[in-house]
Amino acid sequence: MDPNSSGVAQRLAEAGQSHLQQFWDELSPEEKDELSLDLQGMDFKEINCFFKSAMEMSSSSKHEKMDARMEPVPRDVLGSVTRDRDSLQEWEAAGLQCISQNKVAALLLAGGQGTRLGVSYPKGMYDVGLPSHKTLFQIQAERIVKLQELAEKKYKSKCSIPWYIMTSGRTMESTKDFFSRHNYFGLDQKNVIFFQQGMLPAMDYSGKIILESKGKVSMAPDGNGGLYRALGGQGILQDMLQRGIECIHVYCVDNILVKVADPAFIGFCVQKGADCGAKVVEKTNPTEAVGVVCKVDGHYQVVEYSEITLATAQKRSSDGRLMFNAGNVANHFFSFSFLKDIVEKYEPQLQHHVAQKKIPFVDEKGQIVKPDKPNGIKMEKFVFDIFQFAKTFVVYEVLREDEFSPLKNADRQDGKDTPSTARHALMSLHHRWVLNAGGHFIDENGRRVPAIPSLKDGTDLPIKCEISPLVSYGGEGLEDLVRGREFRPTLMIDESGVHELVKNGV
Ligand code: UD1
Repeated sequence: MDPNSSGVAQRLAEAGQSHLQQFWDELSPEEKDELSLDLQGMDFKEINCFFKSAMEMSSSSKHEKMDARMEPVPRDVLGSVTRDRDSLQEWEAAGLQCISQNKVAALLLAGGQGTRLGVSYPKGMYDVGLPSHKTLFQIQAERIVKLQELAEKKYKSKCSIPWYIMTSGRTMESTKDFFSRHNYFGLDQKNVIFFQQGMLPAMDYSGKIILESKGKVSMAPDGNGGLYRALGGQGILQDMLQRGIECIHVYCVDNILVKVADPAFIGFCVQKGADCGAKVVEKTNPTEAVGVVCKVDGHYQVVEYSEITLATAQKRSSDGRLMFNAGNVANHFFSFSFLKDIVEKYEPQLQHHVAQKKIPFVDEKGQIVKPDKPNGIKMEKFVFDIFQFAKTFVVYEVLREDEFSPLKNADRQDGKDTPSTARHALMSLHHRWVLNAGGHFIDENGRRVPAIPSLKDGTDLPIKCEISPLVSYGGEGLEDLVRGREFRPTLMIDESGVHELVKNGV
């Protein structure tokens, strides 16, 4: 369709974006149709406004000023799995009760592009090389299956945890297809609900939208905070209302240890009367790529790792710990009414953050250029930017080794947050579960392996041990299977029983 006839050319001219049509005459009919369709769906004036306010917000002087206004999370909103050990069972029971009453949903943010990991398919489909070769999606799905079962058993009431999965234009089809091919990993298909976040164009520093080829605008998902617009626009809020959902656990796809719909976290938030909560681990390294939960001007927020100054990240308290040490593990609790308010009232107030990127573009001569330094920006909203609107905000601190090992980067020696570190974290956790349940490991000579393996051979490889989430959600229910028994790795415990695998292929 000719953009002139549909008013697109005029809208482009008014917004100073007419260069998007500069190669129009050279495009094939199909390319013309595609470009027309893309352009018709864009609100250029709105995009220009996003650009202006995002650039203003990202100016470095603003960050420096913000640093001076940051305060750590006060103790009275903090719950902790170590300091509040006595309350844990009560919180967990409260969470399981909510689950048994069908009031809890899990919401997975899976619209990212996985650029750092370098795979072309959705990150949830990644196999980190566990003995079972389960993908992140499968592990999470099975945790939901198990949790439903635990809640049903405790409260004698059949229940389900709907699982909302946010994808982007790039990941929707492959994600849906993957779930359908795997029969929804044992979940009821009607409780797995996919929806799609929005996309925004990449822009150069002067505010011009970038063309990645003559007939194609460079587009990227609008950040995990694109969630709120998508929830409203795609009827998800309505679906939650119809199902009677009251608590939502929102989390990111990449953490292999994630306790999906964690009943203790949910119970803690519910008992505190919170409308919004964040799970954190202690940040110990100032340059670790995690955001920190803190207060700015009296409001809770996460200051992202890309936006905090090094000087502030390095500040220490009198006890020697980092002053801003509430490391965001991207696990959030929202009450339904809070989420509804966000979607219906506050979403437009959320500002885009700026990520400077090397964005391939087509130059005036029509040549595709791959820049070697950042030449433009992508604009993203962040999921946690709604903390500021919470009336009762709480923070729940958990142990890193039990709950946080994200998969961000491809494997390389000494790499952080890689498939190897994720695999090792899961196996170490499961090793500890076996020991806690009274089991033991022996080496090839039949000798008991010490609980903390020695590093004498220069490696710190964990004992190879994997427990299916269908057997245990968080270490429970293993005593009958392992107490007083000795195992030779690789140990695999799944629905069919306890197995020692001969091949040590990990
Ligand atoms: C995120 C957190 C950071 C936290 C860290 C912990 C945000 C904005 N930042 O950082 O504070 O300390 O995880 O691992 O949450 N996603 C979408 N749509 C998008 C972009 C991302 O759904 O447009 C999803 C991804 O699929 C992923 C999650 O959001 O599940 C986090 O994205 P990622 O880019 O990996 O976040 P980090 O920068 O690592």
